[in-house]
Amino acid sequence: MELSKYEQQMYGGEFGEAIQQSMEILVALGKIYKAENFIPVSSSQIAGVSYKTIGDAGLEYLEDMVKNNAKVKIPSYLNPAGMDITNWKDMKIPEDFAEKQLKIIELYSKMGIKTTCTCTPYLIGIRPKLKEHIAWSESSAVSFANSVLGARTNREGGPSALASAICGITPNYGLHLDENRISEILISVEADLKDSSDFGAMGYYLGNAVKGKIPSFIKISSASEDKLKALGAAMAATGSVPLYYVKNITPEFILSDSPEKITFEERELKEIKEKLNSETENLKPELIAIGCPHSSLDEIKEISEFLKGKKLLCDLWVCTSRNISEQAYKLKYTEIIEKAGGKIVCDSCMVVCPIEEIGYGITGVNSGKAAKYLPGFNKPRIIFKSIKELLSDYTEDV
Ligand code: F3S
Repeated sequence: MELSKYEQQMYGGEFGEAIQQSMEILVALGKIYKAENFIPVSSSQIAGVSYKTIGDAGLEYLEDMVKNNAKVKIPSYLNPAGMDITNWKDMKIPEDFAEKQLKIIELYSKMGIKTTCTCTPYLIGIRPKLKEHIAWSESSAVSFANSVLGARTNREGGPSALASAICGITPNYGLHLDENRISEILISVEADLKDSSDFGAMGYYLGNAVKGKIPSFIKISSASEDKLKALGAAMAATGSVPLYYVKNITPEFILSDSPEKITFEERELKEIKEKLNSETENLKPELIAIGCPHSSLDEIKEISEFLKGKKLLCDLWVCTSRNISEQAYKLKYTEIIEKAGGKIVCDSCMVVCPIEEIGYGITGVNSGKAAKYLPGFNKPRIIFKSIKELLSDYTEDV
């Protein structure tokens, strides 16, 4: 790899151990992927925040970085943590877990990272522009940034996103290069996609079906950002798809001359929804968990409108960022949701919190990604429906 003088100095340890260690990670990555050089990145989004996912080894790594005076050079943001940072007791999070989780957040904060704790930074104003190079790591955020915003990012691991945050650069390979952003599979959508859960179900199905290729969709006449985030998150979950295009909707649509072609019809939509619900037919959820990826204000509004004058028959979590939660509170959506028996959960989600320790078994979700990642163990786990279906099936009038 060709390193500039400044990059060589960072790599050689002239600016301290934390920077040197970070450069070692970035150079190793660059060598593996045959990057020729580094490019500057304007922001970093760092996964590896939940104590459930990084454990004591991750905590120790962060402690070492802080001891070595690690500081970020660019605006850097955190992915969801394993609990609501302030209301963790309400979530029934064990004390020892909470203690470690708070320590992790404190360590990131000491490095100058903003403790946003969300997988939807783009809903709180962190929106890179078309062709802007960034280093993000949460797979659904990577998909949204590449596809819906047209930014350039690979799917970073937590350590490489942190290393980029500390050095301000990333190796120039993969989706940073235009030649790797060409779609080779065209998907004609013949199904009638009604809501975000339908987009999530389609994403769940197609993540597998596209077999590592970048998909391009046609015949989707309109799709809100909420629907696109559901689609991208599910494809990233089942097939590690980091980029997709939708004709006339995404800012770019770059298709090869002779793409493979497939259709997604009503039959496939029905099949995948049945598959996701097959083990929980006739069972009731103990928890409905909405907000994977984190809910937008519009989604919270929809939930609150539905819950007016109703009482939930099971627990409800609406997972979102703290910033969106504050807006929902001001608009009194929170009051309505809480009156019906639900909770707004900030900073975390049903997948990265220790849900098994909390004791929830069967969970109702509207998200293809949550359906993929909620752990199964030995018992049936998922009820997959739209927000409207979940809330009408498991509420009663008061
Ligand atoms: Fe976000 Fe958690 Fe889903 S991090 S994308 S809400 S699994």
